[in-house]
Amino acid sequence: MNIKYFEKKEAAVDYAAQIMYDQIKSNPKSVLGLATGNTFEPVYYDFVGKIQGTDGRLNLNLSAITTYNLDEYVNVADKDQEQSYYHYMNFHLFRYTDIDLKKTNFPNHYSEDFRTELTFPEFENSIRKIGGIDLQFLGVGTNGHIGFNEPGSSINSVTRCVMLSQATINVNSRKFANPADMPRKAVTMGIKTILESGKKIVLVALGREKEAALRQLVNAKAYDPN
Ligand code: GLP
Repeated sequence: MNIKYFEKKEAAVDYAAQIMYDQIKSNPKSVLGLATGNTFEPVYYDFVGKIQGTDGRLNLNLSAITTYNLDEYVNVADKDQEQSYYHYMNFHLFRYTDIDLKKTNFPNHYSEDFRTELTFPEFENSIRKIGGIDLQFLGVGTNGHIGFNEPGSSINSVTRCVMLSQATINVNSRKFANPADMPRKAVTMGIKTILESGKKIVLVALGREKEAALRQLVNAKAYDPN
C-alpha cells in the first residue's frame, strides 16, 4: 500500500486524474471501477481537462473502455433523476468523452425487488467475465464507509442491497432538494467484490473531515468491519 499526502486538494485530485489518464493511455480497453461523491467531481473535471485539447478535440480515446460504478441509490436509479449516480457520471464525465454508454455498468438494473441483502450475481459475473477491474477508484465516507459498505460490512460481502446508516443519510441528504427524499437503501459492490476484482485500487480522501476515518483505515492491522 502506498500512501501519498498532499498539502493542497488540487494536487491530490490531479494525481488521481493522471493515474486514470495513464491507465487508459496504456490500455485503451481498460476496465475502470468508478466512484462518485464530492471527492470525484474535481477528479473527473481534471481528467476531462487532460483529454480535451485547446481546440476542443479529444486526445484520448475512451470508446473501448468499460466501466463499473461502485454503487447506486435504490429508487433514484432512473437516468433522468438528478441525484442518481448515473446522472452524476454522465454530468461529470461521460458526456465529455466518446465513452460507449453500452459499456457503462451500474449495480441496479436487475431487479425491482430491492430487499436488503438481495444480491446481484449478474453484476458480479459481468466483472468476473471481463477479467476484473484494472483501476478501481474509491472514496471514503466520514464514518469509514467504502462504496455504500457501511461500518459492520463483512470482508466476504458481495454486490447487494444495503440499508444506509443515519450518518450517511445525514451527510448525503444535503444533495436532495428535500432531504426527506433521500433513499434509505442503496446497492453497492461488496468488500469482497472490490478486493477480488480490483487489480489497482486508488482511494482518494480530501479534507480534514475524512482524517479520523482514514487514520483507522490505514492503521488497521487486519480487516476491521468498522
Ligand atoms: C458516498 C458514496 C461513496 C463515496 C462516499 C464519500 O455516499 N456512496 O461511494 O465514496 O460517500 O463521498 P464524498 O466524496 O462526497 O465525501
